[in-house]
This record gives sequence, C-alpha cells and structure tokens, in this order.
Amino acid sequence: MQVHSDPVPHVQPKVHQSFCWPIGTKIQLLPRTRRLELDFVQLLEQRQTRRVFSEPLENDTLGEFLWLACRNRSSRSSPFGIDQESRVHPSGGAMHPVHTLVCRNSGPWTRYDPIQHALFELSESTNSAKSSREAACKILEVDRGILIGLVAEPGRTAAKYENPATIVWRDAGVVLGYMSLVAEALGLAFCPLGISGQPYLTDYLTKGDELEAVGLAVLGAD
Ligand SMILES: Cc1cc2nc3c(=O)[nH]c(=O)nc-3n(C[C@H](O)[C@H](O)[C@H](O)COP(=O)(O)O)c2cc1C
Repeated sequence: MQVHSDPVPHVQPKVHQSFCWPIGTKIQLLPRTRRLELDFVQLLEQRQTRRVFSEPLENDTLGEFLWLACRNRSSRSSPFGIDQESRVHPSGGAMHPVHTLVCRNSGPWTRYDPIQHALFELSESTNSAKSSREAACKILEVDRGILIGLVAEPGRTAAKYENPATIVWRDAGVVLGYMSLVAEALGLAFCPLGISGQPYLTDYLTKGDELEAVGLAVLGAD
C-alpha cells in the first residue's frame, strides 16, 4: 500500500489563485428555512444507500438538499489568497477544496456556489455530463436521478499545507457523508459511486492539474 506523507502547514503561507469557472446562466436556489424536526438517533439508525431514482427531483428539493449539506455560512480573509470558509461540513484547514457539480439527464453540468446558494451552468459541459452519466449507468440504474460530481481544486488546500493530497480526498469523503445523511433526512435516495469521474468530469475545464475529479454520486427520489 502506498504510504502518503502527512500534511504539514507551510511555514510561509502560499497564495492560491482561485480557479476561474466559466460564467454561465445562474439558477437561484431557495434556502431551507423551515425547521426539520427529526430524531437524530433514528436518522443514523435508518440511513442506508438507496438506489432507486424513479421520481423526478425538483429544484426546490435540490436547493434544500444543497443548503443543508453544502452551503457556506461565513467566510474570513486569510493569507492564502482565498477566503477560509465555514460551511455546513468541516474541511481541512477550512480551505474547502471540493466543488459540487450537478446535472440532470441530458443537461450540462451546473456548479453549486455555496455562498450565493445558486447553480451556474458550465458551458461546453454537456458531453462531460453525458459521459459521466453513461459511466454511472454501468454501475446502477440512474433513471431520473441527478448526478453529483465532486471536483477538487487541490491548490486551495496546498496553499496551507505541504502534502495536501490526503486532506483533499478525505474532504471529498466528508462531503459524501454529509450528503448521505441530508438525503436520508429529506427522504431522498442517495448513492455514492466508486468511480471518481476521471477524466470526463473535468477534461472540458482545464488542461493543467488545477482540478481533479474526486467522486460521483446519484441523488433522487423513489
Ligand atoms: C466511497 C463510496 C463508494 C461507493 N460506491 C458505490 C458504487 O459504486 N455502487 C453502489 O451501488 N454503491 C456504492 N457505495 C455504497 C456502498 O455500497 C454502501 O454504503 C455500503 O454497501 C453500505 O450500505 P449502506 O450505505 O446502506 O449502509 C459507495 C459508498 C461509498 C462511501
């Protein structure tokens, strides 16, 4: 087994320049403002991976899901060239390197902006979305499910740490864990996939190594 070196904070912070995402059509989502009363012990007891996605999922519900699982609560300036963030889920060094993309059947990828709580269409991504869906469909019946793509921007974590790689992958796992619990809490179906989405999740975006596909999952309703 490959041994990874532990992350160590740089003595001198590095300055990271954020990846410049293409600006596409904005789809504003609504926050989840209503209370969600549930028994957390019961939720942990009943959560399971659910693989039937036979019903469509409207943007209202998708918005609630992303609000509860991924949104930004506050940001603070940092010496790393980007803000450190407090989101719903934790992240190594508060650097939040994992971006969440979502796509519906036959549409392009959209990127979730956790600060604006909005989706932004990614131009030129329809083929990537199609390839990703085809790959997912080899594993399970995606049906009317929404595909979720996790794309890491390792430079965010690398601005703070030497040997950032394991943090980035563990951060992706944290995001999947939160998503699985939130999906269960909202009565939705959710299944992480073993495939990472390489290379088709990011190959239309960058020629360098600025981004890395770190996971696919399916979200839907049964
Ligand atoms: C990183 C990760 C990858 C997974 N990959 C797949 C997959 O490719 N196909 C699948 O059907 N389930 C996948 N799963 C779901 C697991 O099979 C599931 O969590 C496991 O069987 C335990 O069942 P439970 O989640 O219902 O407790 C994955 C889960 C994780 C966390």
